[in-house]
Amino acid sequence: MTAKMKYKVASLFSGCGGMDLGSEGGFEFLGKKYPELGTKIVYAMDFDKPITDIYNSNFSRKCEHVDIRKLKSEDMPEHDILTGGFPCQSFSVVAQNPKRLGYKDDRGKLFFEMCRILKDKQPSVFVAENVKGLLSANEGETFPLILKEFEKAGYWIKYKILNASHYGVPQKRERVFIVGFRDQAAFERFEFPVPVTEADPVPIAKIVQACEEVEEKHFFSQKAVMGMANTKHAKTMNKGRAQELNAPCNTVGAHLAKVSINSTDPVLKINGRYRMFTPREVARIQSFPDTFLLTGSRTVNYKALGNAVAPVVMWHVTKKIIQALEG
Ligand SMILES: C[S@@+](CC[C@H](N)C(=O)[O-])C[C@H]1O[C@@H](n2cnc3c(N)ncnc32)[C@H](O)[C@@H]1O
Repeated sequence: MTAKMKYKVASLFSGCGGMDLGSEGGFEFLGKKYPELGTKIVYAMDFDKPITDIYNSNFSRKCEHVDIRKLKSEDMPEHDILTGGFPCQSFSVVAQNPKRLGYKDDRGKLFFEMCRILKDKQPSVFVAENVKGLLSANEGETFPLILKEFEKAGYWIKYKILNASHYGVPQKRERVFIVGFRDQAAFERFEFPVPVTEADPVPIAKIVQACEEVEEKHFFSQKAVMGMANTKHAKTMNKGRAQELNAPCNTVGAHLAKVSINSTDPVLKINGRYRMFTPREVARIQSFPDTFLLTGSRTVNYKALGNAVAPVVMWHVTKKIIQALEG
């Protein structure tokens, strides 16, 4: 690690590396430079092999293919910052006195795995990213318990919902970022990044591929379009799903490979024809640079990109963390 690279980062649930690209910096998006932040990823992991393959095509370090439940913290290198967007669909709140977090199926446990690693490794900072719905899950009962668990691991916590479209990303994606510091003074110095493009967001028009670059398979058939015209969605189609070209896109999810013209997922209407976004357009909507390689099948690309943390948002958050650490 060079003198410039001061902070070692370990990444959990790394996916295709959106969060990792953002926490390191050193990329360009829509003509703007996001310089290196003085951080270096020293560890990355995910249990979805095809998704780790995308990661490994893009970064010189390797994303380990491992299930976090089998990961021993002593096998991870020492690090200053731990990052991870833990999957979380299934928390329940166990009615005890005091109430505590339980889980309805296996996926909810993964949060505790992140806490386990924090307790064992005690990095100076952690960053967790998750869907906004985490704040209201179980009628708002889950989130304070999650914060309590992080506090029990030894951290001072701040959290905020950030809208990617406020940070130069052409997407209205709202996600909660939870940042924890071991040092109280650094915690007090830390502030979430102020919006930079709230009043003037980047429109989809900036990222749409030229017609000749888009393969025919991305277009919906005339039959599907006629079928949609006969449904109750017909009147709202233009407002709700076919995206305004002069505004940021609605949130892209992990299942865009299966998008149908009748679903609520965003689609495009260009020159009178409806089509789905291409994987490259989804990558741009998520603020990945065009140099980011999309290897593997389209289905895997859509899944990995739709699940990713927007690199540009993560870059802004990491920059603020480093400022707080350095006083
Ligand atoms: C929200 S995505 C992470 C996206 C990533 N942070 C990014 O920015 O590209 C969550 C990831 O957790 C992974 N995952 C789910 N359960 C896991 C487990 N038990 N062990 C390891 N990874 C797991 C999934 O494969 C998925 O890639």
